Amino acid sequence: ARKIGARVYTLPEDLVEVKPKMVMTVDQVFSITPKTEEEVNIVRNVSSDYETVLWQPAAPGYIKLNMEVHLFIPASRLDSVQDLLSKNHITHQVLLRNTQELIEKQTQNISSDPRSSLSYYERYHHLEDIYHWINKTAHDHPQIVEVILIGSSYEKRPLYVLKLTGRGGAQPKRAMWMDCGIHAREWISPAFCLWFVHYAIDYYGLVPDITEILDSMDVYVLPVMNPDGYEYTWTTNRMWRKNRSRHAGNYCLGTDLNRNFDANWCTEGSSQRACDETYCGLFPESEPEAAAVARFLRRQKQTVKLYLSIHSYSQMLLFPYSCSYQQASNHHDLNELAQQAARKIKRHYFSTYTYGAGARTIYLAPGGSDDWAYNLGIKYSFTLELQDRGRYGFLLPPELISRACQEALTAVKTIAEGVIKKT
Ligand code: ARG
Ligand code: ZN
Repeated sequence: ARKIGARVYTLPEDLVEVKPKMVMTVDQVFSITPKTEEEVNIVRNVSSDYETVLWQPAAPGYIKLNMEVHLFIPASRLDSVQDLLSKNHITHQVLLRNTQELIEKQTQNISSDPRSSLSYYERYHHLEDIYHWINKTAHDHPQIVEVILIGSSYEKRPLYVLKLTGRGGAQPKRAMWMDCGIHAREWISPAFCLWFVHYAIDYYGLVPDITEILDSMDVYVLPVMNPDGYEYTWTTNRMWRKNRSRHAGNYCLGTDLNRNFDANWCTEGSSQRACDETYCGLFPESEPEAAAVARFLRRQKQTVKLYLSIHSYSQMLLFPYSCSYQQASNHHDLNELAQQAARKIKRHYFSTYTYGAGARTIYLAPGGSDDWAYNLGIKYSFTLELQDRGRYGFLLPPELISRACQEALTAVKTIAEGVIKKT
């Protein structure tokens, strides 16, 4: 019998055992900040479990004292991870209570929801859809857009670059390069490349900033540098980062394309183990995606003055070096451009972007495309980490694409205009 207020209720015998504990468990994301070296080790161990997925930082080895760690934990692991953390008195916050819901928001076909007013550029798209968009964009705007096939992925998908050309300006023309989607799960990145191309086409000749940029520089845009990985995040594993190559003798698939370039390749800050998220591959440019980009840029190195690589998340503007603590020879120019971009974003959108040399600002990360391009002679080289700072991480809802892309556009225009003045 149980006493509630003044009355006494008697529960029927067969109901006594029923517990109100039928909680559906779903995949979650935890935020954990280790406060002692011992906790650092425990958090590293938890995140090395191949069933959990580190969101931030990119690899367990990067975890340090007092660093905010974002960890994706599949439903099947929730209990054991929670137990381990509480046994060791490590506190955590639940960053995302239901990732499935957010993934559905990112992938649902908005056309089936007539109330949605989000445009094509405010949604995420399947790879097939993006290929179709590339084709149609080039077909509809032959004056400005040309499609160049620069190679193919490990699974033989084409790597298409859009070349945007203005009408005016001196010849021979300078150029800039921008790639998106090196890392498969960073969906806002390809979304931004599409956004940028659309903006350039729509406003060329109407708005001074983009008109000046296209008149001064040809703009090469690679919307999806890692199509195999991107496709895999849509079909099989939303949290996938690497490409999908298989190397003889290895059970695990995939190389981190941003560790596969020839810039202190495979030194500290990357991994030689094929199962790791920062696996550097068999040798520099062992991956067809990295090799295709490197080959194209080597051929164009006389004209390309600015290299941009778009990632997410963390809101940062990074420049060389990431592969060592060495200072770039034009560090002050790079820092000035990044600072201008960050300030402009702050003024217009009130968002904070941190900036600096990669190794000192986040961590040592050798084999990156930005450092490689810099060493090739492209002296303005940046990696942009778009929104957000961890509220949604890789699962940024479609409603926030517009804001993220406007901020990124501000950064790209500011940096490009600065490079035009300086070169
Ligand atoms: N989060 C990016 C990565 O881990 C940072 C890229 C910065 N540049 C670099 N060359 N590592 O790849
Ligand atoms: Zn990335």
